[in-house]
Amino acid sequence: MEKFQICGGKRLSGEVEISGAKNAAVAILPATVLVDGVCRLENIPNISDVSTTLKILKSLGSQIRYINKNTVEIDNSSLRIHTVPHDLARHMRASYYFIGALLGRFGIARVSMPGGCNFGVRPIDQHLKAFTSLGASVSPMESGMIEVVANRLVGNSIYLDIVSVGATVNAILAAVKSRGLTIIENAAKEPHIVDLANFLNSAGADIRGAGTDVIKVCGVDLLHATTYSIIPDQIEAGTYMAAAAATGGDIIIHNVIPKHLESVTAKMQEMGVVIEEYDDSLRVYRSGQLIHCNVKTMPHPGFPTDMQPQISVLLSMADGASILTESVWDNRFRYVDELRRMGVQVQVDGKVAVFQGIDFLTGAPVKATDLRGGIAMVIAGLAARGVTDIEEIHHIERGYEDIVDKLANLGADIRRIVVPNNLVSHAL
Ligand code: EPU
Repeated sequence: MEKFQICGGKRLSGEVEISGAKNAAVAILPATVLVDGVCRLENIPNISDVSTTLKILKSLGSQIRYINKNTVEIDNSSLRIHTVPHDLARHMRASYYFIGALLGRFGIARVSMPGGCNFGVRPIDQHLKAFTSLGASVSPMESGMIEVVANRLVGNSIYLDIVSVGATVNAILAAVKSRGLTIIENAAKEPHIVDLANFLNSAGADIRGAGTDVIKVCGVDLLHATTYSIIPDQIEAGTYMAAAAATGGDIIIHNVIPKHLESVTAKMQEMGVVIEEYDDSLRVYRSGQLIHCNVKTMPHPGFPTDMQPQISVLLSMADGASILTESVWDNRFRYVDELRRMGVQVQVDGKVAVFQGIDFLTGAPVKATDLRGGIAMVIAGLAARGVTDIEEIHHIERGYEDIVDKLANLGADIRRIVVPNNLVSHAL
C-alpha cells in the first residue's frame, strides 16, 4: 500500500499546469463508441478513472493507440461486444455512460450497476427514464447487471425530474443517432456537458443548447472521424486555488477557463483570497486572515459539490463560524471525521456542516474517504503544522494527475511512501 506524507506549513508558490477534465474525459471516451472512424483525443488526463474507461473500451474491442500520455487514438470500427464486465464497472461511476453509448450503437447494452464514490444512495432512475422515453426497454439481470434494448431509438421529449449530469450525458448519447428530434428539458449545464456536445458535433452530430437547460438533439445516421481536445479540469484548478489560499501562498494556474470557475472565484474572494484572471490562467494569493462565509453547493453555475470538501478546509481556518450546505448529494460529509483528527471544529447535521474556525490545523494520520474528501486531506496537510500521513490514496489518484509532482514543484513537502502490508492501518 502507498500513502502520501506531507510536512505542512510551506507556502505554495510558482506555476502549475491544469490537466484535462476528468468528468469530460469519462463521458467523451464512451461517446467514441458511436463514431465510425478514428477519434484522436488530446488533453486526456492521465488518471486512473481514464485508464479504467480505456480498459472497458478495450474489453469491448476498441483499438487504442497512445500517441503520448495525454493523447490517444481510438478506433471502434471492429467493436462487437455490448457487455461491460462487472470487475471494471464497479470501479467507476461513469461506467454507466456505456449504456447510452452501446445502446446508441448496437440497440442493446448490458452493464453492471456502477461503483464510484460513496455519497449515499446514487440512483439512475433518470437515466433509465431517458432510455425508455426514446423507446428502449430496461430489464434487470442476474448479478447486478441491467440490460437496455431498443429495436429503433426514436427521438422524444425527455423531462428530467432532477438536474443530473449523468442522466443528461446518457440522454445525449442515446439520442445522438436516434431517429428525429430529442428535446432534453431540465438538463445539467456543467462545462463537461458542453464539452461532450462539442466533441460529438465535431464528429457530425447535431446537438444544440448544451450549457442551457434545454438541449436539442437531432439524430444523425453517421458520426465520422474527428480530432478533439478536452477542456481543462475546473475542479483540479479550484483545488489548486484552495491549496494556495490554505497555505497563504501565491501561485499561477495555467490552462484554465476562468468562466468555469466563477462561483469558486467569487466565494474565495469573499473569504479574502486575491484572484487575478487572465485569458487562460489565474494568479491566486492570500496574505491576510481568511474571512468566514457561508457556502451552498448547487448544480452549475452554482458552487460545485466537487469543491465542497476543498472549501471546507478554508472555512475551518477562517476567522469565525461558517455554514456549508450540501444540496446535491445526501451524504458528502464522511471526510469531516478525518478533518477532526487535525483539530478542525465542525458539527454536521444531515446536509449542513457548521465550522468554527481555528488558528491552525495539526498534522495527523488520516485517510482519503473518497476522491474529493481525499484531496481535502492533502490541502489540510499542506496547511497544517507537523506531519500528515494520508492512506487510501487510490481515491485521490482517480482524479488528480501527477499530484505529488505538481505540488512539489510549487514548494510543498509531499512524498509518496510505500507502507509494508503488516503496518497498514495501524496508524489509524
Ligand atoms: N440522481 C437521481 N437519479 C438519477 C441521477 C441522479 O436521483 O437518475 C440524483 C443523485 O443521487 C444526486 C443528484 O441527482 O443527488 C445529482 O447527481 P448527478 O447525476 O448530477 O451526478 P453524477 O452524474 O452521478 C457527476 C460527477 C460527480 C459530481 C456530480 C454532480 C461524473 C463522472 N461525476 O456525477 O463528480 O459530483 O455529477 O455535479 O461526471 C467527482 O468528480 O468527484 C464527482 C463525484
